[in-house]
Amino acid sequence: MENETLTVVDNRTGREYSLPIVDGAIRAPDLRQIAGPDGEGLVSFDPAYLNTASCRSAITYIDGDAGILRYRGYPIEQVAEQAGFLETAYLILEGELPTDDELQRWTDDVRRHTYVHTNIEEFMAGFRYDAHPMGMLLGAVGALSTFYPDAKHISDPENRYLQRVRLIAKLPTIAAFIFRHNRGLPYVLPRNDLGYIGNYVNMTFEIGGRHEPNPVLQRALEILFILHADHEQNCSTSAVRGVGSSHVDPFSAVSAGIAALYGPLHGGANEAVLNMLDVIGDVKNVPAFVEAVKDGSAGTRLMGFGHRVYKSYDPRATLIKQVADSVFAETGVDPKLKIALELERIALEDDYFVSRKLYPNVDFYSGLIYKAMGYPADYFTVLFALGRLPGWIAQWEEMLNDPEQKIARPRQLYTGSAERPYVPLDRR
Ligand code: ACO
Repeated sequence: MENETLTVVDNRTGREYSLPIVDGAIRAPDLRQIAGPDGEGLVSFDPAYLNTASCRSAITYIDGDAGILRYRGYPIEQVAEQAGFLETAYLILEGELPTDDELQRWTDDVRRHTYVHTNIEEFMAGFRYDAHPMGMLLGAVGALSTFYPDAKHISDPENRYLQRVRLIAKLPTIAAFIFRHNRGLPYVLPRNDLGYIGNYVNMTFEIGGRHEPNPVLQRALEILFILHADHEQNCSTSAVRGVGSSHVDPFSAVSAGIAALYGPLHGGANEAVLNMLDVIGDVKNVPAFVEAVKDGSAGTRLMGFGHRVYKSYDPRATLIKQVADSVFAETGVDPKLKIALELERIALEDDYFVSRKLYPNVDFYSGLIYKAMGYPADYFTVLFALGRLPGWIAQWEEMLNDPEQKIARPRQLYTGSAERPYVPLDRR
């Protein structure tokens, strides 16, 4: 369109500029031509990328105001209800739902790569008995890059496919080893007669060669993985893209994503929610806790509330609440659920949270479900990572195939000292 431009008048110089608008965006490099009296071109300043698109992406669509989430155009509600996790991973990675044959090949490829090198077991043994599961996960995935040095051939699509399969196949094995390491239990090796979720759950919970699978809990876990599979340019995905933009191998890039996910403002929030419910302790303490959050004396935000993008209900939280019902029908209701429900009720009526558009996010109920399934709080984020892995890999590959992408390297506004002469040690 002819008038798809932005006219800018620089009041410092009186000069007028016309900047093209493409896809609802101006290009920050176009600002460089707007030079002030000092000749310096303008830069855009956007700490934490509040209003900066860092890439084009065809993977996930979010409308945060309307509470919409779609993978490759398919509504999350339909994918979560009807697809399996590996099918969802295929959709996210390849862009289309697989045919029967494609799904079969993909599932077989993953199944054939579930074992890890036995040295990984020795590597894991080096961690302390109480090492945080996320620390172990990011270390072990980073270490995988040393087992597969061929992974550095990132411009070869077949090689990328192989590493993608390795990552998706091996992460559950490593995650299960981590679970058992913290308990001093011997590792259980993959069983390739089981499905992706069934094998993972078996490696985690099998004792003495026995584990009675619970199909309701396994499907609930699968739905949770699907709900976490991608979420466009979140903190961990941006970390994977940013680190991957240096053209490092995918194991190293994904390990950076795991590090980002570890933080309590991101994937670590589900663990933080459970800790917060522990601190509250009883339903009767909820109103006082909410007041303490508001006046800052609680020393914490309301964990599991708020989202950078969703300014209405997180659609994943709605689905997770349904999953919670099916899980608690099997396992019995956790007393902490009552505290969570009361917290949600009070917060959703409180002007502080309403006016700031703070609603429960994906992490508010997921921790309670994971706990009911038998996972400890410090392990929840590992489950998040298992779900998010297809998204990280798909976003990494999309970044590599995007001719507009270069190594990520933001600008800065320098606020330090002007030039000054070095002062020798004996004169300071
Ligand atoms: N509890 C109390 N107040 C909050 C919360 C919260 N959970 N979240 C935001 N606020 C307040 C802020 O104090 C701020 O108030 P102010 O305007 O009076 O200063 C306002 O709401 C806006 O908050 P921001 O920090 O600007 O929002 P931002 O988009 O940067 O943060 C975030 C989003 C990090 C998720 C934030 O809401 C938060 O810390 N939530 C708790 C942690 C959490 O649940 N994280 C999981 C996110 S989902 C995920 O990663 C899968």
